[in-house]
Amino acid sequence: MREFLVAGNWKMNGSTAASEALISGIVAGVPAGSGFRLLVCPPFPYLASVASQVSGSAVALGAQNVSEHEFGAFTGETAPSMLRDVGCDYVIVGHSERRAIYGETSEQVAAKFMAAQAAGITPILCVGETLEEREAGTTNKVIDEQLDAVLDTAGAAVFAAAVIAYEPVWAIGTGLTATPEQAQEVHQHIRARLATGNADLAQKVQILYGGSMKGENAAGLLSMRDIDGGLIGGASLKASDFLAIAEAAAQS
Ligand code: PGA
Repeated sequence: MREFLVAGNWKMNGSTAASEALISGIVAGVPAGSGFRLLVCPPFPYLASVASQVSGSAVALGAQNVSEHEFGAFTGETAPSMLRDVGCDYVIVGHSERRAIYGETSEQVAAKFMAAQAAGITPILCVGETLEEREAGTTNKVIDEQLDAVLDTAGAAVFAAAVIAYEPVWAIGTGLTATPEQAQEVHQHIRARLATGNADLAQKVQILYGGSMKGENAAGLLSMRDIDGGLIGGASLKASDFLAIAEAAAQS
């Protein structure tokens, strides 16, 4: 059985005081039960302080981005080993905002994925189509291209220590959510694609859904066979909203 992973992507929000309040609310409200794991991904400046607040709790720590380089003259970048050093177990790579706003290519995302793994960090590889791509009927093709950048360079085995997040770009921050059936269809496609490389492993990989997930729609999405959790933006910024999704995972 795959565990649920409920991951909060705080994006570029908060302050020292706000992040302390948010994480203490989350840590205090972790639902009872098993079969799920919580994760928060704060902005870089707050990683170390959030790390000390989640230490010993059931909440894991992740970052939102990482350099594909190990160290050196890369002004403004953060090395995978630095994330590990401050207590990150996960890092998001290839979020659609990184791809669209900062021009990250699938090849660069694959390099970040591998660099994170080499430092002992689990990458959360984001894939997803835009509205135009969905309407043009190219959703699966777009997802395949994003997945294959990793599969072709590193093989399916690397997904033994990775998470995938399916995030339809049209659903991110828009209030539009993929229906459970729409999401399931793509999740199933992703798992089938991985299975062509390693059928056993494909059954074990966690595939999260992201895009306007909230307490009200979480149970429906999490009830689908191939949906193993969520990558949550807006609803991860308030402890009670995030915990409502965690509760849905605990009940599923
Ligand atoms: P959202 O963001 O939940 O605000 O739609 C999800 C994400 O971008 O990871």
